Amino acid sequence: MSSNDPMTRVGRCFRDRFSTEPLVVATAPGRVNLLGEHIDHRDGVVLPFAIDRRAAIAVSPATEGRTTIISDDLGLTFECPGPPPGRPDPDAGFANHLLGVVDGLRSTGRLDFEPRPLSVAIASDLPAGGGLSSSAAIEVATGLAIAAIHDLPTPDVRTLAKVARRAEHDWVGTPCGIMDMLASAGGRAGRILAIDCGSLTLDELPAPSPDDFAFMLLDSGVRHRLADGGYASRLASLERVESVVGTSLKSASLDSLRTDSIDDVDRSRARHVITEMARVEAAVDALTRTDLARLGALMFQGHDSLRDDFGVSTPELDLLVEACRSRRGRGVLGARMTGGGFGGWVVALVERRSMKPVLHEVLDEFESRFDRRPELLEVRPSDGARIEATPGHPLSYPRRSEGA
Ligand code: GLA
Repeated sequence: MSSNDPMTRVGRCFRDRFSTEPLVVATAPGRVNLLGEHIDHRDGVVLPFAIDRRAAIAVSPATEGRTTIISDDLGLTFECPGPPPGRPDPDAGFANHLLGVVDGLRSTGRLDFEPRPLSVAIASDLPAGGGLSSSAAIEVATGLAIAAIHDLPTPDVRTLAKVARRAEHDWVGTPCGIMDMLASAGGRAGRILAIDCGSLTLDELPAPSPDDFAFMLLDSGVRHRLADGGYASRLASLERVESVVGTSLKSASLDSLRTDSIDDVDRSRARHVITEMARVEAAVDALTRTDLARLGALMFQGHDSLRDDFGVSTPELDLLVEACRSRRGRGVLGARMTGGGFGGWVVALVERRSMKPVLHEVLDEFESRFDRRPELLEVRPSDGARIEATPGHPLSYPRRSEGA
């Protein structure tokens, strides 16, 4: 483990601030979504995978009767007398992600406990605001750690995800779906998840062999906040269309959108949802048959739909995807923006043997247009949230291997 690993940093940060060892350490990963964008809130099937970048949380009952939450990465210090407060605190800023989870375990998670005053440190190697679910990772890890510190049964994947989503909705004000939390809680090394966001069931599909293929992330450098309004306005469009067609978009057809009662913008938002659900079905088939050329083509089509119909791409993301598309046949199979959009990262599926020169050409093209060089990062499908250390098992709690 490197000295920069979030596990190492969270331990160091905790010891420096509280002069003792944490009792519980939990971690949870971010995620990349391969396909199925902006359909989790319509009960669609999505295809994310948890990645090998994680958020870590270290917790102990506080000795001085105050709750303290700190993070070196975020420059965060939250303090209050007694246990974590039971309602959102506008001054708490990022701490509301964690406080909302403590509260949610009792209401949504139906766990009966009296929160204790806590000493908490967090650390993460997930870039914030980049569409890689850095917030969901912290929330999911918090759910596991808080349950452990109060001697509660370990919450299952769905409970963790619901509690985390409630924190986003009610404590942070982000009207997100449930994909990010389910992927962070339920990820599996070497597997792409097929999550049905209606029934909240998770299937696993084989990821392309890491010996021959790689998932590369390219950073557009543009950062978003989903609480800013673009996400909510898309949801409002979809709700208006559903009320006109009289059914959920999951069971609507493209034909049903051909009515003057739907305005053009709303129609194109809904068209994205309906066509994306069909692309996911095709992608499940492609992954099952290891037809990666087909999977790649679906990724490009998914990007076009997010750009033209859903309106959540940016010129930076588009350039990266187009630069990848023009190198199809030279090792790039597919590329698309991943996550909520309005900035963030592009995910590209590439052949390992030819990716280096090709991706550098892509970065050169970006640099000559935008005057800066995007960060490039390989990610591997990885395991979901886990307890790393508990009182009886300091840092030796069973760990599934990282990576594929
Ligand atoms: C964000 C939200 C998710 C999902 C994606 C788009 O990541 O948190 O719930 O809607 O955008 O697919």
